[in-house]
Formats: sequence, structure tokens, C-alpha cells
Amino acid sequence: MQPLTRLQHRLHRTLPMAHLAVQALPGCPEIRLALINSDFPTGPLPPDVMRAVIAEPAYWAFCWGSGLGLARALLDAPRRVAGKHVLDLGSGSGVAGIAAAMAGARRVTACDIDADACLATTVNAEVNNVSIDVFDDLADVPRPVDVVLMADVLYDRANLPLLDAAAALNAHVIVADSRIRDLGRSDFAPIFELQALTFPNLGEFDEFRTVRLFEQRPGHGAANSSPAESA
Ligand SMILES: C[S@@+](CC[C@H](N)C(=O)[O-])C[C@H]1O[C@@H](n2cnc3c(N)ncnc32)[C@H](O)[C@@H]1O
Repeated sequence: MQPLTRLQHRLHRTLPMAHLAVQALPGCPEIRLALINSDFPTGPLPPDVMRAVIAEPAYWAFCWGSGLGLARALLDAPRRVAGKHVLDLGSGSGVAGIAAAMAGARRVTACDIDADACLATTVNAEVNNVSIDVFDDLADVPRPVDVVLMADVLYDRANLPLLDAAAALNAHVIVADSRIRDLGRSDFAPIFELQALTFPNLGEFDEFRTVRLFEQRPGHGAANSSPAESA
């Protein structure tokens, strides 16, 4: 079975009424992704479907605003990733890694704990004619890594320790997040903000339109970092 067809089957496990469509990203038309159909109704779901979605959310079927904003930023200013080994941590659809590859990264790897997201990243890399090696365990990602991209991975406070795991790679860590104003860590500083919305539109509140980019301050490695206190 073709990878895109396999991905379609994975989506149907939780959302039988939806389908995948390869779509150019608004504001980032250089990138095309296999995402949930954009006319998918955002109203209340039947209870059994809702339970399946909560148990197994298909995050990878959306391009999250933070990933979209980070992709735009990398394509507009490739110097942060050009010639580097870039890791897209919490890759979902793979949007950030794909942008890094298009921006001239020497090597792109991606890591996601969700097997379906790993497949989505592989499929979308192929759609965009870029090469990405995908791993479901951070421990398996080949070292050294020069740059770690984390787009919309901190939506759950339980994921905050992932910042320490990223910092431990002794790489330049770039975080993009529309839900967190302050990472609460002295080793990270805001770089800039831009506007981007999750695609297809999930009807998110206006407050989530602003994507904030943070990067690890020079000289701060794993040894100097402390757990984030506030989100
Ligand atoms: C909201 S999605 C964002 C996907 C993509 N970066 C984007 O911006 O569209 C968050 C992703 O992080 C992944 N994730 C959560 N915890 C993780 C962990 N500990 N290691 C790797 N990936 C993780 C989830 O499986 C999910 O695919």
C-alpha cells in the first residue's frame, strides 16, 4: 500500500468522515502537506468519534500555527539552518523540518513519539521532494545535532521536560509556540513574533494567532538549564 494511502487509513481510524488532501500552506505556499480536508466541519463530533479523537489525536493531520510560522521564518531567513544538521522534534506533519530542508539544511532528521506522525513526516517530505530521516525515539537520532526545532510541542505542560532533552543535545534550540508567552527559563530568550493560524482552520481563539519564537541564549547548554516553572 502507498504511504499516502496508509496515512489515509490511519486518519480514518479516528475520523471516518474526514480525508487527507495535499494542500499548499497559506502564507507558505512553497510547502504542500497531506492534511485533513479544509472543509472538515469543526462543530461537535459524535461521542464515539470524540472519544477516539481524544484517545488518539491526529495532530499530524493539521499544520499548527507555530509550525507554519516557524516554516515561514526559516524560509525567509535560512541562515539559522543552512548547512546544518537540523532536528524537527515533535514533527507532526513535518512542516518545520521540510522548511529547514528547503532552506538549505545539510541534513534533516525528525522525531515524534506518534507512529502516525512519523509516517506523515515521511509522506510530506516525499511530497515536497526533500529528504528527512524519521525516528520515534530521541535516543536514536544521530548526533551531533546543530539545530533543534520545536514547534507547538509545549501545548501540554507534561512536555516541558522535552526542553531539557533538547538542550542536552548541545544544539541551538529554537522553540515556536503560540500558546506560551514566557518559557520561564533564563536560558531561553524571545527572538521575534509573527502571525500564523493552524491550517486547516480549527477556529482557534485570536490569542493563538501570535507565534512567538524563542532561542537558547549563547553559552547555555544542558548543564545550565533548569526546569521551566511557568507556561
Ligand atoms: C501540536 S503537534 C505540532 C506538530 C508540528 N510541529 C507543527 O507545528 O505542526 C505536537 C507534536 O509533538 C509530538 N510530541 C509530543 N510529545 C513528544 C515527545 N516527548 N517527543 C517527540 N514528539 C512529541 C506529538 O506527537 C505531536 O505530533
